[in-house]
Amino acid sequence: MKYPRIAVFASGTGSNAESLMKKMKDLGCEIEFVFSDKRDVGVLEKALRLGVKTYLVEKTSDRATHEEEVLKLVHRHRIDWIFLAGYMRLISASFLQTLQSHHQGATQIVNIHPSLLPAYPGSQAMERAFADQVPHSGITVHFVDEGMDTGKIIMQEQVALQKFESFSDFKMKMHSVEHRLYGQFLENVVTGKIPTLSYKETVEC
Ligand code: GRF
Repeated sequence: MKYPRIAVFASGTGSNAESLMKKMKDLGCEIEFVFSDKRDVGVLEKALRLGVKTYLVEKTSDRATHEEEVLKLVHRHRIDWIFLAGYMRLISASFLQTLQSHHQGATQIVNIHPSLLPAYPGSQAMERAFADQVPHSGITVHFVDEGMDTGKIIMQEQVALQKFESFSDFKMKMHSVEHRLYGQFLENVVTGKIPTLSYKETVEC
């Protein structure tokens, strides 16, 4: 079966990346590669354990040079979709434009965020929602733009915060919804329910 080439970008523990790699295997395919901008992080170990190719490009110089290096990987593997999963960097407008130019204008880069966006964008979203004791928070899958969690929303699911619930229980519930929701989105992409504009083969890299 021909399926879209998918890369996962992550910077940390990698529970979402792991669940995407497993889901992809369940669908009979493989994540093309996992990329991390951080050394010695859980996600790299998880990918190695699952036999998925990994790349590490640490940010040693300016953002543009770092993104150029990352784009080389994307080009080399003719990546159709990028799934951010705890990737702790903003993506620049020029990176997005390059992706669009390879996919007939489509921005096939998505992110998962632990809040009901537009509420609680940015880091520590779960911690902040918990501190505010919101009656419900939730999970959002969204397209990526150059802003901080501001791209077009694709899917959202509410997660209730019970009175007297501990933060660790709340976090566990949130993660389990994340894994299911991102997995569902991945399945929709792989099965073609969400169409993929394939990488333009003619582009020089
Ligand atoms: C997740 O909560 C995700 O929504 C956010 O970063 C966190 C990454 O967790 N973008 P993990 O590394 O996937 O466990």
